[in-house]
Amino acid sequence: MKKTLGYLKPYGGTVALGLVLKFAGAVAELFLPLLLEYIIDDVAQNNALDYDKKINMVVILGCAMLGCAIVALAGNIIANRLTVKSSGNMTHDLRYDLFARTSYLNSRQVDEFGVPSLISRLTSDSYYVNQMVARTLRLGVRAPILILGGIVLAFSRDAVLACVLLGCVPLVGLIIFIITKRSVPLYFGVQKKQDEMVRRTQENVTGVRVIRALSKSAYECEKFDGTVKDLAAQEFRANKLMSLSNPLATLVLNLGLVVLIAVGAVRGNSPGIVLAFLQYFVIILNAMIALSKIFVVISRGSASSSRIESVLAADVSEHTGEYPADDSGCKLRFKGVNFSYNGVENNVRDFDFGIRPGQTLGIIGATGSGKSTLVNLLMRFYDVNSGQVFIDGKDVREYPLEELRKKFGAAFQNDFLMAASVRENVDYGRGLDDEAIIRALEDAQASEFVNGLEGGISFNLAQKAANLSGGQKQRLLIARALAGKPEIIVLDDSSSALDYATDAKLRKALAEGYPDSTKVIIAQRISSIKSADLIIVLDDGEIIGAGTHEELKETCGEYALIYATQMGGE
Ligand SMILES: Nc1ncnc2c1ncn2[C@@H]1O[C@H](COP(=O)(O)OP(=O)(O)OP(=O)(O)O)[C@@H](O)[C@H]1O
Ligand SMILES: [Mg+2]
Repeated sequence: MKKTLGYLKPYGGTVALGLVLKFAGAVAELFLPLLLEYIIDDVAQNNALDYDKKINMVVILGCAMLGCAIVALAGNIIANRLTVKSSGNMTHDLRYDLFARTSYLNSRQVDEFGVPSLISRLTSDSYYVNQMVARTLRLGVRAPILILGGIVLAFSRDAVLACVLLGCVPLVGLIIFIITKRSVPLYFGVQKKQDEMVRRTQENVTGVRVIRALSKSAYECEKFDGTVKDLAAQEFRANKLMSLSNPLATLVLNLGLVVLIAVGAVRGNSPGIVLAFLQYFVIILNAMIALSKIFVVISRGSASSSRIESVLAADVSEHTGEYPADDSGCKLRFKGVNFSYNGVENNVRDFDFGIRPGQTLGIIGATGSGKSTLVNLLMRFYDVNSGQVFIDGKDVREYPLEELRKKFGAAFQNDFLMAASVRENVDYGRGLDDEAIIRALEDAQASEFVNGLEGGISFNLAQKAANLSGGQKQRLLIARALAGKPEIIVLDDSSSALDYATDAKLRKALAEGYPDSTKVIIAQRISSIKSADLIIVLDDGEIIGAGTHEELKETCGEYALIYATQMGGE
């Protein structure tokens, strides 16, 4: 929590001013019963004063009461505005840092936190922290002052009546404490159910096409309904319990008032003082109820703040070191590489191969055989468990990440396009000129369709490029990978949606236009990688064949089988 609260520091001045105003407002509010008592007992019922004098004093004291009420109100309103401002600014800063940290997390850390959880930390958790800070600033000072000030002033007026008041306070406190303590876990439950609802909503919105295609809308609605009902039930349980606190506290208050009036009557207290005490009762009671609400938001907010802090505390520094070099002259080389995502079974076993600068590496294999994992290791999204991955003879763990990633132009499997222009999507913040972008689009076989779009490269894509076909999206992603002529081009399953003729043209453009770039091409179709200098065939995390197309046809049964199956398609 300390780190989260530290985000309030820059707004210390605003916070302090707000608190001072809250304090002034609370004090002014506490004076109201005193003035009321004075008007009733010392003015209205004072037979020594004549009528005109009484009226005069009532008007003056009435104005004083009005003044106090205005100070209380204005202090409160201005302080609340300042509070909203400082807590809003603080939440902005916190969210910014959280977002920045989240985007620097390495792939393993993202796996550990989980994407939905990272999203809810950025959205609902930061909102709960905001609520905690805002509510605490609004009520955290005001409520204790009202309670303490009320008790002190009550004692200064009449110690016996104040004892009646003081007797009620612990009782009300106990009721509120028990109820709040029990309801906090229930509110945590609500938070969890909300997360689940968010996750389900995300899944459904993202997967809306699949769901419709499989006619699963009704099924999904039913599941969503279940989640929402669960959430409603949990909220009901929490609120049901919490809603007991008000009536129970009021009951104690009313009983206290009866006792107060009885004691007042027996002791012959004046009506003014009884009325003043009545007001103190109400002020104190309300303040206690407000405090109980703060406890709920604080418990919720502190849980959220620790979820946020665990992301902020994640180590995102680059771990570079020195490793043995490779002198084989390869551009890319895997040497005895083993790797596991979960640390249990190896997803990659004994990868050993290399290609020279400007050559093409083709990778083929069944789904889940480790093709994308190979790219993940090459680009150092994950670190190997044993063995080494070299680029230009240097272990990838020796390169600063930015330098390493700059070598690559990659189109990942199921990569994403932004809701921005074609130009921005291809350039992706690299500051390339239009010529380079148009060239990349041509090589990626995308220029024909891009020219047909309204505005050409200025055409704006919809979110997730929903206004493009699958093959069009793939070609833009390829253009992004090619733009800027990177040292290493990685295309992971990037031509799967292209027809054979376009795929062939793409291969030709790659070979002719990018002779110096080393290419890594993952494909399901043999035709896409047939001319590669080295093809590796993967199966369940192992290399089961390596060589050129002609060699593999002879040496690798699996490859020969895929080839035979796909021959018909070519
Ligand atoms: N982030 C991850 N966490 C845990 N396991 C993973 C992760 N990514 C992939 N795997 C597992 O690693 C294995 C290899 O996955 P990989 O993505 O490399 O397959 P692939 O050959 O690219 O398959 P496809 O052709 O379907 O893209 C699979 O068993 C997969 O379940
Ligand atoms: Mg893959």
